[in-house]
Amino acid sequence: MGRCQNLEMAETVLVTGASSGIGLELARCFARAGANLILVARTERKLQELAAAAASEFHVTAGVIPCDLSRPDAAAAIAAEIERRGQAVDVLVNNAGFGDRGAFAERDVDRQLSMIQVNVTSLTHLTRLLLPGMLARGRGGVLNVASTAAFQPGPNMAVYYATKAYVLSFSEALVEEVGQTGVTISCLAPGPTDTGFAAEANLLETRLFKLGTMSAAEVASAGYGGFRNRKALVVPGLRNQLGAFAVRLAPRAMARKITAGLQA
Ligand SMILES: NC(=O)c1ccc[n+]([C@@H]2O[C@H](COP(=O)([O-])OP(=O)(O)OC[C@H]3O[C@@H](n4cnc5c(N)ncnc54)[C@H](OP(=O)(O)O)[C@@H]3O)[C@@H](O)[C@H]2O)c1
Repeated sequence: MGRCQNLEMAETVLVTGASSGIGLELARCFARAGANLILVARTERKLQELAAAAASEFHVTAGVIPCDLSRPDAAAAIAAEIERRGQAVDVLVNNAGFGDRGAFAERDVDRQLSMIQVNVTSLTHLTRLLLPGMLARGRGGVLNVASTAAFQPGPNMAVYYATKAYVLSFSEALVEEVGQTGVTISCLAPGPTDTGFAAEANLLETRLFKLGTMSAAEVASAGYGGFRNRKALVVPGLRNQLGAFAVRLAPRAMARKITAGLQA
């Protein structure tokens, strides 16, 4: 599943959170296979650097749409800009997201609500705006980035885990809705990955991250391969797969207590 495959015809792929980490590597996977890119995140300079690198390395066209996905109007603004440019999105990669460790009752409420806006609401809105075109064309799809956090509640990271449970549930429901239309819905659920995420979420000192991480390139490669193979759910890495399986067998109280310990 690991290696990026070549496409027969050029697609246009929109990647959110493409300025770093898993999103950047996913964008490179699609570009390596010949897809044209539309790159979204807040940091325009990093998006421009990736766009220039993809254009010169893979000979694809790459545009950028700098946007803060915590804004309620973000998805509509992105869709309007794509239409203004006369483009159609074949594949939507909903990757942008962030976490925040700490007691729910003590953490900053604006950050918690922004997290729901980025991880859930903008992801849902972008999918709602772009999926009908994919269905009309009978091809393309949506690759949503959840997390192994999706499989159990996350004490000390309650909102983040809940947002990722939403992403997984939403994605799996859409898999059944689109059926055999030719459109692919796939959910990538990485475990700890070596990106800026852990520092941003105050997770670097947790047992969860000290147990080891995968690289963003490995995770993206697994996600890309899974999407191309029309997998509904991709959990990269044996350790993460075993954890996701074990949590289904464990009593719920045990699963949440173990998670609390990993993130203390
Ligand atoms: N790293 C892990 O251990 C891990 C594990 C499981 C799942 N994930 C998920 O993987 C996805 C990618 O994270 P990552 O690990 O690659 O972390 P990362 O390196 O911090 O990348 C996060 C990306 O999201 C973008 N982003 C954050 N807030 C945004 C906002 N308000 N508006 C627009 N873009 C925003 C960031 O760009 P700007 O800052 O330029 O806006 C960046 O491109 C996330 O959904 C995360 O939850 C990560």
